[in-house]
Amino acid sequence: MNPLATKIRNEIELRGSIPFARFMELALYAPGEGYYETQQQIGRSGDFITSVSVGSLFGELLAFQFAEWFEAALHTTAASQLSSDKTPLFQIVESGAHDGKLAGDVLSFLSANRPELFQRLEYCIIEPSVLRQVWQTKTLKRFPNVKWINDLSALSAAGINPMNRIFFSNELFDAMPVYRFGWDAKTKSWFEWAVGWDGDKFVWKRALENQRSAVPFPKVDPALLEVLPDEFTTEVCPLAIEWWTEAARLLHRGKMIAIDYGLLAEEFFVPERSGGTLRAISRHHANTELLSNPGEQDITAHVNFGALKTAGENVGLQTDALLPQSRFLTEIVGRGLKMSGEFAQWDSVQRRQFQTLTHPEHFGRAFRVLVQSR
Ligand SMILES: C[S@@+](CC[C@H](N)C(=O)[O-])C[C@H]1O[C@@H](n2cnc3c(N)ncnc32)[C@H](O)[C@@H]1O
Repeated sequence: MNPLATKIRNEIELRGSIPFARFMELALYAPGEGYYETQQQIGRSGDFITSVSVGSLFGELLAFQFAEWFEAALHTTAASQLSSDKTPLFQIVESGAHDGKLAGDVLSFLSANRPELFQRLEYCIIEPSVLRQVWQTKTLKRFPNVKWINDLSALSAAGINPMNRIFFSNELFDAMPVYRFGWDAKTKSWFEWAVGWDGDKFVWKRALENQRSAVPFPKVDPALLEVLPDEFTTEVCPLAIEWWTEAARLLHRGKMIAIDYGLLAEEFFVPERSGGTLRAISRHHANTELLSNPGEQDITAHVNFGALKTAGENVGLQTDALLPQSRFLTEIVGRGLKMSGEFAQWDSVQRRQFQTLTHPEHFGRAFRVLVQSR
């Protein structure tokens, strides 16, 4: 048993069982021992690839989109509000920046292709992990306009209040700890799947009523609940909703964009997802042994885009788009070609990257993009 598993077992022995969200939090983020704290897992030689590891094109297309948004905002800004000094006018806030590669791709594109905007831009990374900040600092050392903060609340405290801000993340929310619930068809009620220890391994346990986590049950159409099979399992991620809501409150003017694999609320409740969407990933293979080898494999769940969208709208954001990644990126390329001839000179490497990013069997269909604005 690895030292992290021993630590988790000790916590379970003290408490009887722990919510799955706590297991996932420790497995992924326990300082010095969690999966995202110990190794470079992303890329072909790691456990999984993301749109970022496909190549620099993803960041370049996003940068083009960010520039369009900032330039449009500038047109509607009164000249009196534009100070002539060099204070930042625009701010990109990235969370889940990992090793900083995506930030580097976005900044390289902007510095080469939108130098004036780049001069007035601050790139802020929200990074709670000291180790990952070290990775990012190394990747981004040639960009003087990058800042780090430890969490969202530091944004307002830091007094940064640019006129135009973009919050963005790629595959942030799928890595946030989730609670796991099962449906009891006999009593027509939800129960929580907790994690216990049976003497030599971690096991799933139904949490006792008085041990249940104080988080909302999954939201399901009552008519659907009438026919939901026994032990139908699904996840909720209060952390993602809290994060999106808090960020939205910090958005005075600008956009929020989340790119991730995920579903609309009702898409979770179909027969092929009766076991939920949680998966462990190791060496490019997904498995359902979520409780095995904590710290040595990734654990991830589909993002509930319906819930994120509602959370933003509840605090006054407008939804601009919720669409597959393929359409989002194809439309960017279309506008680039039409308006400025950008993207007309792609070589075979860039064409291949675009195909991977938009192909339905790769990143094109399962990945969605949510854009909201204020
Ligand atoms: C699946 S990886 C994606 C990394 C990168 N964005 C990419 O697309 O290649 C998820 C990343 O989100 C980070 N993460 C998870 N929760 C976070 C939080 N609350 N704040 C900042 N980063 C977080 C993890 O540490 C990890 O680096």
